[in-house]
Amino acid sequence: MQKIQAAITGVGGYVPDYVLTNAELETMMETTDEWITSRTGIKERRILKGEGKGSSDMAVEAIKNLLSKKGISPKDIELVICATTTPDMQFPATANIICDKAGMTNAWGFDVNAACSGFIFALTTASQFIISGRHKKVIVVGVDKMSSIMNYEDRAVSIIFGDGAGAVLLEPNEEGYGIVDSILKTDGSGRVFLHQKAGGSVKPASIETVMNKEHYVYQEGQAVFKFAVKNMADVAAEIMERNNLTSDSVNWLVPHQANKRIINATADRMKLPTEKVMINIEKFGNTTNGTLPLCMWEWENKLHKGDNIILAAFGGGFTWGATYIKWAYDSIT
Ligand code: UT7
Repeated sequence: MQKIQAAITGVGGYVPDYVLTNAELETMMETTDEWITSRTGIKERRILKGEGKGSSDMAVEAIKNLLSKKGISPKDIELVICATTTPDMQFPATANIICDKAGMTNAWGFDVNAACSGFIFALTTASQFIISGRHKKVIVVGVDKMSSIMNYEDRAVSIIFGDGAGAVLLEPNEEGYGIVDSILKTDGSGRVFLHQKAGGSVKPASIETVMNKEHYVYQEGQAVFKFAVKNMADVAAEIMERNNLTSDSVNWLVPHQANKRIINATADRMKLPTEKVMINIEKFGNTTNGTLPLCMWEWENKLHKGDNIILAAFGGGFTWGATYIKWAYDSIT
């Protein structure tokens, strides 16, 4: 009997309506469209507006989109893993809130926090529940409301991030399709370059932390760039090599969308032409946990059963990794 693999069998996505353009950023801070475009490749990003709206609201929209495309009831979902860096609250887990809001009353859930690599960490975790036979329908949702932790006075950080959510359904596959391999890595010493200074147990929220703007993303961009550009390319090359994949046999690279220069370096290392690289950074920016599923959502109807797809990501922590997927279906849209 063929072994059970966890296969993605559907993708849903959601981005908020509000478009924050480089032109609008020019009115908010000392920057230019030319600088942002040439340094990052970003033209615009989406922002979730509205009192009381959080990551769970975007995740629910992405999941509704996924379930309606698949014609599946929310009650059929057994497990939800939410990858997020901007949970609705410190606790409970955003996955719990998503299950409640989306009517997934038979599911249990939890959050994974691995910053921008969260989606592939959660995907690998979720796949174990399928491979073991424990569950047959698992949703992995990557979501972030990055605007909620953005200091729009910090021009070197705030210009790259945006809000959005993407969700995938994982089901068992016994025909050799699905997640074939993944390499996941962490190096906690990298935390000094990218983190949120206050709001955790080390430095709980206080009047001082708010006054000092310590609840926003702190990033030393150049240091992060150097690690990202090397490690994302290395890990993508490593997963190709150990699965005997070549630039001809890889159909698609799905890279984390942090900076177009990092994406290009990864594609170059894999010797992939631009046509095989999913890039939507120009319109969504860096949605952190949302980038990879939002790419798959946008490209879903170009994907074919049997396509060899490499997902690659790098994020705060540091965290990084790559996943090799043999795509399981032709377009359902
Ligand atoms: O997804 C999670 C992982 N994160 C990443 O992968 C992000 C990696 N890092 C980056 O993508 C880049 O470092 C940034 C896009 C964030 C910043 O680009 P950079 O080329 O590294 O800029 P920098 O921060 O080193 O600043 C270079 C110069 C500085 O001016 P001086 O000191 O050379 O005069 C900055 O003040 O550019 C200036 N600058 C800006 N100028 C206009 C920084 N931000 C801006 C801006 N507009 N928005």
